[in-house]
Amino acid sequence: MNMTDPQGEALLQRKYTEKVRRMVRERSERIGRPLTAYIATFGCQMNARDSEKLMGILLDAGFVEADTEQADFVLYNTCTVRENANERVYGRLGHMKAYKREHPDTLIAICGCMMQEEAEVTRVREKYPFVDIVFGTHNIFKLAQLLYERMNGSGMVVDVWEGTQQIVEDLPSVRKYPFKSGVNIMFGCNNFCSYCIVPYVRGRERSRRPEDIIAEIRRLVDDGVVEVMLLGQNVNSYGRNLPEPMSFAALLREIEQIEGLRRIRFMTSHPKDLSDELIETMAGSSKICRHLHLPLQSGSTRILKAMNRHYSKESYLVLVERIRERIPDIALTTDIIVGFPGESEEDFEETLDVVRRVRYDSAFTFIYSKRDGTPAASMPDQVPEDVIRDRFNRLLDLVQETASTVCARDLGSVREVLVEERDDHTEGGLTGRLSNNLMVHFSGDASLIGRIVPVRLTESRGFYYIGRMEE
Ligand code: SAH
Ligand code: SF4
Ligand code: F3S
Repeated sequence: MNMTDPQGEALLQRKYTEKVRRMVRERSERIGRPLTAYIATFGCQMNARDSEKLMGILLDAGFVEADTEQADFVLYNTCTVRENANERVYGRLGHMKAYKREHPDTLIAICGCMMQEEAEVTRVREKYPFVDIVFGTHNIFKLAQLLYERMNGSGMVVDVWEGTQQIVEDLPSVRKYPFKSGVNIMFGCNNFCSYCIVPYVRGRERSRRPEDIIAEIRRLVDDGVVEVMLLGQNVNSYGRNLPEPMSFAALLREIEQIEGLRRIRFMTSHPKDLSDELIETMAGSSKICRHLHLPLQSGSTRILKAMNRHYSKESYLVLVERIRERIPDIALTTDIIVGFPGESEEDFEETLDVVRRVRYDSAFTFIYSKRDGTPAASMPDQVPEDVIRDRFNRLLDLVQETASTVCARDLGSVREVLVEERDDHTEGGLTGRLSNNLMVHFSGDASLIGRIVPVRLTESRGFYYIGRMEE
């Protein structure tokens, strides 16, 4: 466990950034063009937020953001939640070998959840020796220092921490959209669902202090942000371990007070910790969006127990009912895993039953992926692939069938839409998002991007709407 003084750390890193900036400037003067940097992000929204911070550090150090891997500094921010995420990274890394042979000055780095696994670091050392820097999830704030070390030394720089208690505030950061931003409210996870590797690669749960979160959101709002997405593996357990404990609902009520902020989203909610206080806070709020991502994982109480999820089919359904009663226009989405060890046809039918009853707006469906080191990996009765495939397809059909009717429920009404970008498929078209997270395409001027406008929903296309802006 590494313990340093977070404020001192931020200062130290700024010094390294200055040093790297000097080196970047010298090199770019020598070659007569700016040095470019590219980050490929493979994981979840927390991974993406890390990439924004990493890019913030790189821009501070004098790099210019590139939009392809043909850059002077290429960073892979990896995910290891399922096997296929890993393979994609190695595929891309393989291509970089040839690129680096032709452009030997290119620096290649790899970080993120995959690098928290010893076996993966060994694989990089042995099979991809041309990689320059390897680091993990706990020390992303050190990027400038690692770059400095690499630029002044020879050979691969590897710095992976097993865990950390510290939260380094005030990192530079960029964001994809000027008008919305992710905001970490906590890091890590304590739940140890038996299939999941996240607690091993992201460490124990740590909540940011409410005053730091509020200050960050205020700064973002001053900078033009109208919507924030609060990020945590289980936001419902926010604040439990703070010196002065605070509930997630209480944090939301404070954020609601921030003037100029229009929309608040959050993810993810673990059903076991979703409180009545949160439901009431959502029901009474004008800023918290009408969307809840409530991962089910399985509809079978027996499997849920083996997954260590701490709720049952029945308690999940009761919770959904309570939410719908207090917030009737809420959109519910979910995550479901098919083929957890020991899942029988009956267990799977329980999952279908929940999907039929809840009628989700959408569901992310995953094929169970065995992660080394998790309890589920050594459970007996791993389900054969062809059985999983068949169940997966049946689940997908059902999800699509219910979602397309559920999603159309607001047809004909006028709703507030946050205009996000030009719609690539139509001329003069815009794409925006409803409070319930569905997308709407309509025509309008690009100057509306970042604004919230009223739109009549004139046509439902299953998972999105076509609309017409109201005067
Ligand atoms: N903290 C979030 C989930 C983060 S991982 C939560 O608890 O809801 C995102 C999703 O990936 C999970 O909800 C789960 O459905 C899926 N997932 C995690 N581990 C998996 C595995 N080993 N195989 C397949 N899917 C998995
Ligand atoms: Fe993984 Fe469970 Fe933690 Fe979510 S709550 S990150 S599924 S261990
Ligand atoms: Fe993947 Fe890490 Fe997120 S394993 S899902 S990037 S926390």
